[in-house]
Amino acid sequence: MTNEFTTAQLLERVTESRIADGDARVRRIAARIIGDLFRAIDELDVQPDEFWAGVDWLTRLGASGQGGLITAGLGFDRLLDIRADEADRRAGREGGTPRAIEGPLYVAGAPLAKYETRVDEGDTPHAEVLVMEGRVLDTEGRPVSGAIVDVWHANEHGRYSHFDPEQAEYALRRRIQTDAQGRYRFRSFIPPGYAIPPGSPTAELFEALGRHGHRPAHIHFLVAASGQRLLTTQINIPGDTFLDDDFAFATRDGLVVSLEPGTPVSGYESLGVTRPFTRVRFDFVLQPALTEDESKPLARMARVAS
Ligand code: DHB
Ligand code: FE
Repeated sequence: MTNEFTTAQLLERVTESRIADGDARVRRIAARIIGDLFRAIDELDVQPDEFWAGVDWLTRLGASGQGGLITAGLGFDRLLDIRADEADRRAGREGGTPRAIEGPLYVAGAPLAKYETRVDEGDTPHAEVLVMEGRVLDTEGRPVSGAIVDVWHANEHGRYSHFDPEQAEYALRRRIQTDAQGRYRFRSFIPPGYAIPPGSPTAELFEALGRHGHRPAHIHFLVAASGQRLLTTQINIPGDTFLDDDFAFATRDGLVVSLEPGTPVSGYESLGVTRPFTRVRFDFVLQPALTEDESKPLARMARVAS
């Protein structure tokens, strides 16, 4: 009788049987996760209907293209950042703007401007006009000219272009190259918070978990320059209801900016402002790159695919 197994024998067969070496790292990670799931099914007495409901949920999640939407809400994106911060501390790599999760809604290849641009697509009624400006600096405080500030944020309904078919391609997505003094500036509007798409597999899980799916208002950035370590970060708008209750756990204390409402238009005419607006001043401070790979302006998925 070699085809009748106990649970332990089955797990050993699943994780140990092979006809080739395969990838040792993948084998090790898979064995651990499969073993943990076997144990969870056993200890929690997971019923077949519950197991297949989970598989059905995963299938629908994948088919919806929203696989990336579930990791942040379950804490994995922030976990990777916490671990990266810890690794940096151990390696003595401190200083610079704190990292914050990329999130699942970045799109590469946004239109490129020099020094200044509008990120919005024209007036957004009811939204507060925002000009954000500052410099990209290295950890010695020197300006980094020619850095690329890649910015993206949600529209007035909390949705991101590309994932929202109602919006134009690259709406609310731009890249800005810093000038000789390391400066950038852009005009847009203060975005509202974000909420996970209603009716989606993600929303379904959050409902079952009794959790909300709201992020406080935020603006995303990838900041890249040759010789500097790629910075993936966000700023948060103060005063948001969900500032300390972000479903994606992505908010960081050091990244809640100060708003300067009523900033006069003088000096900002080239951005088309005609009335006093809200200004945010923010300098991005980049750490030096230790390898060429660290400075590449790659999103998280592109980094592993290339
Ligand atoms: C998610 C959405 C975001 O806009 C974000 O910045 C981070 C995470 C999400 O749906 O998981
Ligand atoms: Fe976001």
